[in-house]
Amino acid sequence: LSILLINGPNLNLLGTREPEVYGSATLNDVVTSCTGAAAGAGATLVAFQSNHEGAIVDRIQQAKLDGVDAIVINPGAYTHTSVAIRDAFLGVGIPFIEVHVSNVHAREAFRHHSYLSDKAVAVIAGLGVKGYEYAVEHVARTFKKRA
Ligand code: DQA
Repeated sequence: LSILLINGPNLNLLGTREPEVYGSATLNDVVTSCTGAAAGAGATLVAFQSNHEGAIVDRIQQAKLDGVDAIVINPGAYTHTSVAIRDAFLGVGIPFIEVHVSNVHAREAFRHHSYLSDKAVAVIAGLGVKGYEYAVEHVARTFKKRA
């Protein structure tokens, strides 16, 4: 089973960015723990981060060609703005879990709406970077199709 982990804008700054909101773990820490969680469940994981909306759309389209089985995505601020990323998911039909490090519902009103949540398998928000691992474990265990 092949899993793609996508992190959107500013998540390359995890660990130093507003640590009181996002914690002290870095994106590298996240990728390491998710790779381990995937491997532990017999899946493989590829990680991608971009600050650019179009690059994320391209990566989702590529995932279809690569035969990716599931995507775990933290779209960052694009969560609240991007019809293009929503359309990319609809276009490829790959199941995905939406992850937010912070509890977006306890923050500014503009963070309460997501262009993705109604199409996601699940949404995890507010569990810190552990949310990524839980999402990877879930898809690795329940989407078992192929090695
Ligand atoms: C975030 C929440 C978004 O509102 C914000 O723009 C981010 C990170 C989170 O992980 O909590 O960049 O997706």
